[in-house]
Amino acid sequence: MEKYIIKGGLELHGEISVSGAKNEALKVIAAAVLSEDVCTIKNVPDIEDINRLIEILEDLGATVERSDHRLVINPAKINKTEPTPELIRKLRASVMFAGPLLARVGEVTMAHPGGCVIGQRPIDMFLAGFRALGAEVIENEHQYTLRAKKLKGAKIVMPWIAVTATESLMMTACLAEGTTTIINAAMEPEIPALADYLNSCGAKISGAGTPIITIAGVEKISGGTCALIPDRIEAGSFVIMGLATGSEIKVTNLNPNHLETVITNLQKTGANLEIGSDYIITRPSKLKGIELRTHEYPGFPTDLQAPFTVLMTQAKGISLIHETIYEGRLFYTDKLNQMGAHIIMCDPHRVIVNGPAELSGKTLESPDLRAGMALVIAGLVASGKTAVENIYQIERGYENIISRLKGLGANIEKIDDCLVK
Ligand code: EPZ
Repeated sequence: MEKYIIKGGLELHGEISVSGAKNEALKVIAAAVLSEDVCTIKNVPDIEDINRLIEILEDLGATVERSDHRLVINPAKINKTEPTPELIRKLRASVMFAGPLLARVGEVTMAHPGGCVIGQRPIDMFLAGFRALGAEVIENEHQYTLRAKKLKGAKIVMPWIAVTATESLMMTACLAEGTTTIINAAMEPEIPALADYLNSCGAKISGAGTPIITIAGVEKISGGTCALIPDRIEAGSFVIMGLATGSEIKVTNLNPNHLETVITNLQKTGANLEIGSDYIITRPSKLKGIELRTHEYPGFPTDLQAPFTVLMTQAKGISLIHETIYEGRLFYTDKLNQMGAHIIMCDPHRVIVNGPAELSGKTLESPDLRAGMALVIAGLVASGKTAVENIYQIERGYENIISRLKGLGANIEKIDDCLVK
């Protein structure tokens, strides 16, 4: 079993560059199915989630060439209506293929998706949206089938804000007849980025990045080239890592406009940050506890809640962390307590952190992608040796993390237990 071994307590220094956005890449890859032409995606991170989506694309009949953070997808031969269930179950983002396949082939049977264990994460809003667009939807506990000769534009009111459901319906509606309006749409920066790419391929989407998105259906989506935006969650994770370890590091190739609430909340804790046009420098700071609430964009992202909570273990006083999006995304705090943190869980959505605490190294299992990164940060802060297991979860979303952190002077290695006597 592979794991990370971290010898913590070191100050970091130097620069770390942010990769292309995972959560844009996954959607642009699925959107390639809408077209019969070649789609080129640049700045693609080399991470496990992308590997899984490429496997699904190839299973569907597409060809994919990959080199130097660039994917060239030729979807011309896609005509499969039942992607292999084992591939679909490997990650939640596989659900993104359902709409484009329906729009292109007229029918699709998909296994229910898998993914991070951070909450219930149903797909009811996707299915309600496909129904509104005129699809027949037949569902059982293992799979669902969607059928529609031609999708029809509709008014879709989202009962609450959901990122991938917004993106899925936005891309599917591109090939519907007539106009679709999505009301109460999510506004994450990856959504206007996806809309810009689709518009460059002939789609007619307006309002992406606001709560009301309008899509005028078109006959055809052509091929195109998409350069992914920087990954704001990776950027935020690195900035928090710099602060938590009391280090001066420069996080480059980011867009600070996508991190405004993150920056504001960090500054509220007393974080000393230098914000440039495409970088943030962290400096050793006297941190104090604050109250934080996660919220849909432009609020503080749930995906940075776990790293932020680690930071608050190093801040003076009480912090209240309120995770409003997921009911299963605070259980990793138990692992921080094993390391010496003082965190009390009030209910599945709220914890109180009493800091500062001296963390010491332990063997910990990574529960999900973002909590896994939070444990890595905790390991870098802690004295002694931390072992982080189940690292597949981390490598789902962070490219080449060992050598990038070593570049900052971190003492971190990946070892394979089977090879260690
Ligand atoms: C996206 O997940 C991201 N994933 C997540 O990133 C992120 O945590 C989340 O948005 C919130 O920002 C991708 O972009 C691939 P939601 P998504 O639909 O779209 C409920 C990461 O670490 N819901 O906004 O799945 C759902 O259960 C990850 O990179 C329904 O009830 O999140 C949740 O409580 C993990 N029915 C809430 O809505 C539905 O049909 C928000 O989910 C869909 C969602």
